[in-house]
Amino acid sequence: MAPRKEDASRFLPVTRTLATLTEAVTHCKGCPIHETATQAVFGEGDVRARLMMVGEQPGDHEDLAGRPFVGPAGKLLDQALTAAGITRETAYVTNVVKHFKFEPRGKRRIHQKPNAAEIFACTPWLVAEIEAVQPTVLVCLGSTAAQAILGKAFRVTTQRGEILKSPLVPKVPHVVATMHPSSLLRTPDPQTRELELARLIADLRVAAEILGSAATLTLQ
Ligand code: URA
Repeated sequence: MAPRKEDASRFLPVTRTLATLTEAVTHCKGCPIHETATQAVFGEGDVRARLMMVGEQPGDHEDLAGRPFVGPAGKLLDQALTAAGITRETAYVTNVVKHFKFEPRGKRRIHQKPNAAEIFACTPWLVAEIEAVQPTVLVCLGSTAAQAILGKAFRVTTQRGEILKSPLVPKVPHVVATMHPSSLLRTPDPQTRELELARLIADLRVAAEILGSAATLTLQ
């Protein structure tokens, strides 16, 4: 018989508000990543946010600060959001995986991609966050988030910017995926980086436009 996969459900509180979830995640031992990470990094933002942004996992800066997207990738995300007409304060920002997975190399901690079992284990936290916030638009940043939410067959390179639905969170009306800002930071050629930034902004504008038209519909 195949081994039973265990997720983090047993660490989730019975009553799931952002406050109870944020407290409970600090005790999560749902996968081995917690053993080396400094702390769990839960999402942050307004519980009434209509836009939710989902990244892969906290990075080095986030692991130390205990907050999502506060390092270089977060700064680039802020820049792209501003260019797309979105203020970060109006969004709820989180990650698929709540602990930082890394490999020590000398004094440095090198980011490691979370594997399928770790993503599976952490998914109940993300689903609970999405259910608590009930966003109108969910933006997946990068392929880890996109595949966790939209399925393994999803390809961010070819399907970015499309307005989709997710079988994982069917109550979310609109899901849009784009590249992860970290991938732009790893692009050495400045011209390609500029081009990729423009594409990231264009994808975020798709989300901004949905929010704009949803607001108009609500006012009618
Ligand atoms: N990359 C992510 O995916 N999330 C963060 O919070 C920071 C970097």
